[in-house]
Amino acid sequence: MHPTAPLRVHELSVEEKTVYASLDPARMPAHVAIIMDGNGRWAGMRSLKRFLGHQQGAKSVQLVTETASRIGLPWLTLYAFSLENNLRRPRSEVNFLMRLLKSYLESNLQRMMDNNVRIRYIGRTRELPPEVQDKMLWAADATSKNTGTTLTLALNYGGRSELVDAFRSLAAEAAHTGLRLDRLTEEDVHRHLYTAQMPDPDLVIRTSGEMRLSNYLLWQIAYAEIFVTERYWPDFRGVHLLEAIAAYQRRERRYGGLSETESDAESTLEEEHASARSD
Ligand code: FPP
Repeated sequence: MHPTAPLRVHELSVEEKTVYASLDPARMPAHVAIIMDGNGRWAGMRSLKRFLGHQQGAKSVQLVTETASRIGLPWLTLYAFSLENNLRRPRSEVNFLMRLLKSYLESNLQRMMDNNVRIRYIGRTRELPPEVQDKMLWAADATSKNTGTTLTLALNYGGRSELVDAFRSLAAEAAHTGLRLDRLTEEDVHRHLYTAQMPDPDLVIRTSGEMRLSNYLLWQIAYAEIFVTERYWPDFRGVHLLEAIAAYQRRERRYGGLSETESDAESTLEEEHASARSD
């Protein structure tokens, strides 16, 4: 998010404001990634057809994005359509999801502009139907100058195939520039990921209670905190995003190191040993 993009906390609902007030502004995540799951079950519980669950899920996408933009979240990345969805769901459902994406982009573009949201995509998007790609490009172009939240939709996305694509493009770079593949660094891999321009997610949210990562951002979430809620995606709202951020702030991120208290205790111990040796 651009440093000059204003926070719009006054636009939050009363319920959202209450949760937001409990957050520490100094420890807000920069990037939240969401595995939106449970559309089908949400519909099934109401004896509705699955597609109505997806339709309701698209409403959640917009509402959650708007809350993210109001609190100044720089990066929001949503798993909207996986490679596996594309291969394993009935054609009729895949076609419905494609039509829904197109109409979602069309009917929400003005709201994206009003909320200063920039739209981008990750995934093997070139394999999507041409008319869907046209609409995607149109929405990305129209919002490209917005300076608030970047909403990235993962479409025809798979974490392993992203790594394969990164390795292929690293091999091409090596052929052209003489980059030594035997001296590859983590930064080299990062430069070739679809997410090269973004920081890694701090927080991954999964709805509908499943404890799986489902091939999502496998490289990037190495140190992310994971928050799983039982709530189905069509019932997920901005206030639930804020609750997930509150839970994230209660956690302590260690990146393989020690906690602050443990490290303080260790240093005191070291100092005591050093002073005992010098006595
Ligand atoms: C999982 O529900 C959800 C998806 C297939 C992906 C998310 C899709 C949407 C939210 C639809 C609209 C998105 C946009 C960007 C317009 P599921 O069908 O796997 O649910 P189930 O596990 O309960 O069957």
